[in-house]
Amino acid sequence: MTNPTLDIIKSRRVIRDMTSQPVETEKLEAILEAARWSPTGGNLKLNRFVVVQDPRNLRLLQLVSPGMFQRCPVVIIVCVDWGVVKARELPEHSRPILMDVGAAAQTMMLAAHSQGLASGPVTSFSQSAVQVVLNLPDNLTPEMFVCIGYAEPRKQTGMRGYEKVTWHDLTYWERFEDE
Ligand SMILES: Cc1cc2nc3c(=O)[nH]c(=O)nc-3n(C[C@H](O)[C@H](O)[C@H](O)COP(=O)(O)O)c2cc1C
Repeated sequence: MTNPTLDIIKSRRVIRDMTSQPVETEKLEAILEAARWSPTGGNLKLNRFVVVQDPRNLRLLQLVSPGMFQRCPVVIIVCVDWGVVKARELPEHSRPILMDVGAAAQTMMLAAHSQGLASGPVTSFSQSAVQVVLNLPDNLTPEMFVCIGYAEPRKQTGMRGYEKVTWHDLTYWERFEDE
């Protein structure tokens, strides 16, 4: 089965080599608007998004992020607002809190790809250092980066072995029976 949405989902890949070509503001805004429409546990909208484009701040982020391989013109940092968590008396380990981060990041990556942009998530960074670089208020923690730009067409790298896995390998139907 194929349709434009499925095509976008299946053709998105994490891109780690990007050019320095700037990202158009309308495209960036469309990505941020898409994030606003991503599902959120209890409809609480705990995520806040910090858009970083200043080359100096991008360099600083890179310095504190061992898993950020992209040199890209834009990074959107997905943060959790713990002030809302507290105000709503949610347990700090409530599972939806970080799930919201993943849902928003994937929504943004698909919105980027649908507009011809490259993207890649990063979780390997020092949260405390990013707090300082961005001067985040105490109630916000940075949880995931979404790097955005245009793909460098000549070199693309992916993780090996991925294509060998099919959805059949990952899926079980109904319930597990006892041996
Ligand atoms: C929760 C999560 C954390 C990730 N963290 C990083 C990261 O720190 N650095 C990185 O280069 N890629 C990161 N990735 C990207 C994965 O490596 C990538 O999605 C995977 O290799 C499959 O590639 P594909 O999305 O192109 O199919 C992360 C992905 C997820 C879902």
